Amino acid sequence: MASSSAEASPRVPRWSPRRSPTPREDEEEDLEMQNMESSNLSSWGQLSGFPFSGSLAGSIRFPLPEETIKSPAAEEVMSQESQESDESLTGGAFLSWEDLWVMASDGKGRQLTILGGISGYAQPGEVLAIMGPSGCGKSTLLDTLAGRLQSNARQKGNISVNGRKQTLSFGTSAYVTQDDTLMTTMTVREAVHYSAQLQLPNTMTVAQKKERAETTIREMGLRDAADTRIGGWVSKGISGGQKRRVSICMEILTRPKLLFLDEPTSGLDSAASYHVMSRIASLAQREGITVLTAIHQPSSEVFELFHNLCLLSSGNTVYFGPANMTNEFFARSGFPCPAQRNPSDHFLRTINKDFDEEIEDDHGDYEEGKTTASAAKATEILVKSYSSSTTCQEVTQRIAFINEKGSGELIRRRSQASFLAQSLVLIRRSFVNMYRDLGYYWLRFAIYVALCLCARGSMLMFVAAFLTFMAIGGFPSFVEDMKIFGRERLNGHYGVVTFVIGNTVSSIPYLALISIVPGAIAYYLVGLQKSFQHFAYFALVLFVCMMLVESLMMMVASIVPDFLMGIITGAGIQGVMMLNGGFFRLPRDLPKPMWRYPMYYIAFHKYANQGFYKNEFLGLTFPNTQAGGPPTISGEDILRDVWQVEMGYSKWVDLAILFGMVIIYRVLFLVIIKFAENMKPKVKVFFSRLTTKSTRVIDPPPAASLL
Ligand SMILES: Nc1ncnc2c1ncn2[C@@H]1O[C@H](COP(=O)(O)OP(=O)(O)O)[C@@H](O)[C@H]1O
Ligand SMILES: [Mg+2]
Repeated sequence: MASSSAEASPRVPRWSPRRSPTPREDEEEDLEMQNMESSNLSSWGQLSGFPFSGSLAGSIRFPLPEETIKSPAAEEVMSQESQESDESLTGGAFLSWEDLWVMASDGKGRQLTILGGISGYAQPGEVLAIMGPSGCGKSTLLDTLAGRLQSNARQKGNISVNGRKQTLSFGTSAYVTQDDTLMTTMTVREAVHYSAQLQLPNTMTVAQKKERAETTIREMGLRDAADTRIGGWVSKGISGGQKRRVSICMEILTRPKLLFLDEPTSGLDSAASYHVMSRIASLAQREGITVLTAIHQPSSEVFELFHNLCLLSSGNTVYFGPANMTNEFFARSGFPCPAQRNPSDHFLRTINKDFDEEIEDDHGDYEEGKTTASAAKATEILVKSYSSSTTCQEVTQRIAFINEKGSGELIRRRSQASFLAQSLVLIRRSFVNMYRDLGYYWLRFAIYVALCLCARGSMLMFVAAFLTFMAIGGFPSFVEDMKIFGRERLNGHYGVVTFVIGNTVSSIPYLALISIVPGAIAYYLVGLQKSFQHFAYFALVLFVCMMLVESLMMMVASIVPDFLMGIITGAGIQGVMMLNGGFFRLPRDLPKPMWRYPMYYIAFHKYANQGFYKNEFLGLTFPNTQAGGPPTISGEDILRDVWQVEMGYSKWVDLAILFGMVIIYRVLFLVIIKFAENMKPKVKVFFSRLTTKSTRVIDPPPAASLL
């Protein structure tokens, strides 16, 4: 009996759905299996006789005859659910998507279809799980719905929130991405507290914000790890699973209306997964949050927490509907879940096509003729079965209902802390981070001191060029900062201006320290002009140059976010500037078209060098070493004739120009980020217009986002 069952039922990789040797509790299901065995389906070759192909397909919900499959309880649940929520389509975010396609070019000019016309919905207070083998498009679906699709991908189809066609822009929903970008130097408590102060509105007191942060830390089971540093590649801190929970913590602080989670339980053990998901589910229910989560291999307890399930395979819907009815759907489609197997494992195994070939080969050796059974076929059958099921119709009806009855309420950016409060918090956080991150400034400080002790020759040029060049050393730390900024920005925690202010102000004490201490060592060891005023000027120029190089590197980081590429680009730009700064080649010798104009004037080294020279040489006289001339030569003559310095303006003008450049660079950084942000949706709309007549409405980012 068991063997005939194996022959008759479709074979799926690494698993043949033969009946389990353990006795079934449900006799009806046995009957069902027997029905299948006795049907004329003896192998995959005779698919035409499969009950849900042909004319039957359109008329019934599931493939097997009504009497054996009827589950009134389940249907009641479904209709009850829809009736319940029918009355309350206000409040919260009803998200629906219809016939959603996402295409991307693969870089070789070919078009990949990542999502192939899928539909679904998500409702407040409920958790929608998106499952499927890796690469099936889970993250893409989340990205598309959250309005964060990459610019090389195009989307088609309707997404509506509360029945109104609107695309979510950044800041309107909370999204926990698959990778954790956290400030490694902070403890868990600090990270969450800072985040609470950044995000929660001014109407809450500091104590309330702290309380919210503490509650959330407890909810995510992080109390024991609260005072441990998050840690990164330098120092081992909390575990990967704990990092995931910190990321989730930060996004649920504000109790957003829409929460997207991309594999929130990866890296968590099954107990932690359950606790995290159950807390998210109860939070969703309590606060009316709409939760969409991509998830890998949930345990059966976790699976029970989901209201709806969207099962994808290669961008197609295998099943969308109540999670608790999935098992039944699979059973009726001919893929019953064996006893003692986790249902979600069973679903994923049935539709995972990645290993089809290997398995066919494996079996080919000893079971000839029976190797055609594959997950690809199983998936095909399930997709067909689903599209002809009443569940599918009910989903379509539900989407239509949401679209019609939705309140039309726009999802707005959440209210936040004031600009000033955010700036102050960011300055503090950034200051602490810079203090704790050895790579940010301390390493550079030590190297500067060592260098200044050794170097005496060509001293001024060395200071202007090489010391500032070393500012690149802080780039990796800055790139990490940018990643955190990127995540927080996309989730709408604060704006670009706040970030620039936070970074600039908090870096000032460190830059001052590393320009004054090593600067003083170099200055007095070499024996430059002794007066305090001269030294002050020297230190000021050094300070401004360091800020300038940092601003330059910020711009580089906004364009090239990879740290190795960024360092190469930054070093290249500075190298070119250094060569054109008028030291290695005197200004008049620089080749005209490019290097003299404009590079010489763009290179900040010109102003730094000349400022330093004027500071040092003016007012001094030197013995003349040239034969036939006067016995002494003034510093001014040396500047004019030897270094070819522009003498029309004072050293303070040089300093002012440098300072102006700092401001210009930082403003440019801001413009680049804003430009990229504003252009992205426009470029996407442009491309989607070119390809389809889509009816999406872009919600313009509110004026507040300019900050
Ligand atoms: N922007 C893109 N350009 C090209 N291919 C993409 C893009 N985004 C995703 N893909 C491809 O689409 C498939 C689905 O990706 P993804 O949604 O990340 O899968 P999942 O999250 O289910 O593992 C993958 O094969 C991936 O390589
Ligand atoms: Mg993914």
